[in-house]
Amino acid sequence: MESKFKTIIEPFRIKMVEPIKMTNYEQRKKILEEAHYNLFLIKAKDIMVDLLTDSGTGAMSAKQWGKIMEGDESYAGCESYYEMREVVEELTGMKHIYPTHQGRAAERILFGCVGGEGKIIPNNTHFDTTRANIEFTQTKAVDLVIEEGLSPEFDHPFKGNMDIKLLKGLFEEHKGSDRIPLCMLTITNNSGGGQPVSMKNIRETKALCDEYKIPLFLDACRFAENAYFIKMREKGFENKTIKEIVKEIFSYCDGFTMSAKKDAIVNMGGLLCFNEDSIDDKVKSMLILTEGFSTYGGLSGRDMAALGQGLKEVLEEDYLEYRIRSTQYLGDRLMKMGVPVVTPIGGHAVYIDAKAMLPHIAPLDYPAQALACELYLEGGVRGVEIGSFMFGHYDESGKEIASTMELLRLAIPRRVYTQSHIDYVLEVIAEVAKKKDKIKGYKITKEPAFLRHFSGHMAPL
Ligand code: F0G
Repeated sequence: MESKFKTIIEPFRIKMVEPIKMTNYEQRKKILEEAHYNLFLIKAKDIMVDLLTDSGTGAMSAKQWGKIMEGDESYAGCESYYEMREVVEELTGMKHIYPTHQGRAAERILFGCVGGEGKIIPNNTHFDTTRANIEFTQTKAVDLVIEEGLSPEFDHPFKGNMDIKLLKGLFEEHKGSDRIPLCMLTITNNSGGGQPVSMKNIRETKALCDEYKIPLFLDACRFAENAYFIKMREKGFENKTIKEIVKEIFSYCDGFTMSAKKDAIVNMGGLLCFNEDSIDDKVKSMLILTEGFSTYGGLSGRDMAALGQGLKEVLEEDYLEYRIRSTQYLGDRLMKMGVPVVTPIGGHAVYIDAKAMLPHIAPLDYPAQALACELYLEGGVRGVEIGSFMFGHYDESGKEIASTMELLRLAIPRRVYTQSHIDYVLEVIAEVAKKKDKIKGYKITKEPAFLRHFSGHMAPL
């Protein structure tokens, strides 16, 4: 229900709390130095507001915790699987439904089955783990998001849309070959700023896939948030329920991977679902080999019980209104303060454009990392750099190449923080903004061969 009041009323009350340890500037300075200016290396207990990710960080409901107690831990055929299966089947209509321990396990199994040398898998934008799992099988991962989705300040209601023309071009180029085993569509488009995909675009993508006989798979981890954006922004959906919209979205796909750590509001879990019978045996074998028997994948019975319940709760409109409004609230206030952010504001996170905010720091001096460190120092807030430090690109001569965008992502965990936590974050950012001209860049002092942002060391310049 759309509220006439400005204050966001969280549609829940708090029954169980986790204390937050308060720290001061001096303490944080020491902690940051000991963590080598890499926020992944700070202990969570030393963070005051943790906006590192919305993945697996949500708060489960009393009903979900109740379900945890009911979990059936039988090795084969447990009731918790069948209960969860019923929810997934009703929502998505999929025939083959497999639990995995998280999203990337579903990706690894799917691409392990359909990928291979010479193959190509397009997407609006592949998330890092999706791309990595595709490339691991020697398959080429191609991003075909619409042009508007590539620029931080461009306004478009569905900036996550697939570029249908480019997709058609790719399909046409490889027509008659079996090089494209499937097409993916990520809803919402995380790497592009949590931007939604319209129903029209999903339909068009599906129609094109059908024309070229290519199955369409969704990367569906934020499916409910995407559905809410469709309801809010797309003509003809104003009066539909979220469930109706979600069902329509899934009716256009032939399968999906899902990290249940997002919109299923559980701390761990994933799904791999599809209709096609011909890959079922292979998927099942890989699942059993690497995750677990087909009725538990990588999960306990209790995990699946909570997951099924989470999938029901995420469809509640009051919840989604609060969810999208709170992200919007953070973004709107930042814009009012003159802090440059990726617009429009996406579903699960606000992305500060550090290149625009700190133009005096060269991209290869990692402005978004500098901003991340500053937010921690100022107020114990943890965000994550999505820029040159994370991507770590080098050209053939070994010279480092800057990323196209230098962003600081502030991801909002589900049902965890209240509006006053967000107000606090805003005050912290306002303080940082006051002294932004004095913020200095960083250099890398220790660089691991892979995924350097997780464990690399840095030092201020
Ligand atoms: N796809 C998307 C769009 C994601 O955002 C993620 C995870 C995954 C797949 C992989 O799922 O973590 O369960 O293995 N995103 C997290 C994030 C890590 O912080 O955005 P997973």
